[in-house]
Amino acid sequence: MSMNKPRASVHNRPAGHADASVHGMFNAIAPRYDLLNRLLSFRRDTAWRARLARSLSPHDPRRVLDVATGTGDVLLTLARGLDSLQCGIGLDMATAMLAVGRDKMDRDQHRGILSTLAGDALHIPCADAAFDAVTIAFGIRNVHDVAGALREMYRVLRPGGQLRILEFSLPPNRFVRASYLLYFRHMLPRVGGVISGNPHAYRYLNRTVESFPYGEAFCDILRGQGFESVRAVPLTFGVATLYEAEKAHE
Ligand SMILES: C[S@@+](CC[C@H](N)C(=O)[O-])C[C@H]1O[C@@H](n2cnc3c(N)ncnc32)[C@H](O)[C@@H]1O
Repeated sequence: MSMNKPRASVHNRPAGHADASVHGMFNAIAPRYDLLNRLLSFRRDTAWRARLARSLSPHDPRRVLDVATGTGDVLLTLARGLDSLQCGIGLDMATAMLAVGRDKMDRDQHRGILSTLAGDALHIPCADAAFDAVTIAFGIRNVHDVAGALREMYRVLRPGGQLRILEFSLPPNRFVRASYLLYFRHMLPRVGGVISGNPHAYRYLNRTVESFPYGEAFCDILRGQGFESVRAVPLTFGVATLYEAEKAHE
């Protein structure tokens, strides 16, 4: 699947977002995070996570790790969509985001199979080959060392295990892209800043999205870390992309 070239490589990221400051920022916006996701994406975020769940369904994963789980929406979507799921663990460094996620899981009918784990994507505190699938939604862009995080995800996947990554991207059509950038650069940071009380967080969002590789460029990064059967599926005119990949069979 080919998409427009990204504006910069993964090694050319905006300065000033080391992991410590990133998870501090997410802790600060945790109470309003879900509301803003729904509002600013016009609820597309829930459709994108559902699409991720559907792409895993043919593989019947029993054990899933959701990296950068935040408030747990991917895990809750997987639990509702995958009959095969027996154990879903959500890993994140931001404990306030995890606390919101745990509250939601406690109220959910699938609470018995879902749990959270405080930790860093660069040092996943889990055994090699422990999971049938690893997911990360809107998180990989935030990790300081993208290749290091992908290596860790590869390590904890069993041979033949599935990786799914959801991340923002830019629409390839120039008219759609121009309207989207108008919204993304000017309206979204203002609305996000006012509602979250943290103007920095939503300026950070558009700076990081516009500088992060997407489409084929990101597929190449996945292949470089050993993943196979890699493909990019653009969603909603290419505003987001679902990346599908698998760990080599032994
Ligand atoms: C935009 S949120 C995404 C949350 C969730 N996956 C979703 O779909 O809404 C990004 C999350 O990545 C987490 N994060 C950033 N760097 C991380 C790291 N190195 N290890 C674990 N989590 C990290 C942040 O704390 C934050 O909760």
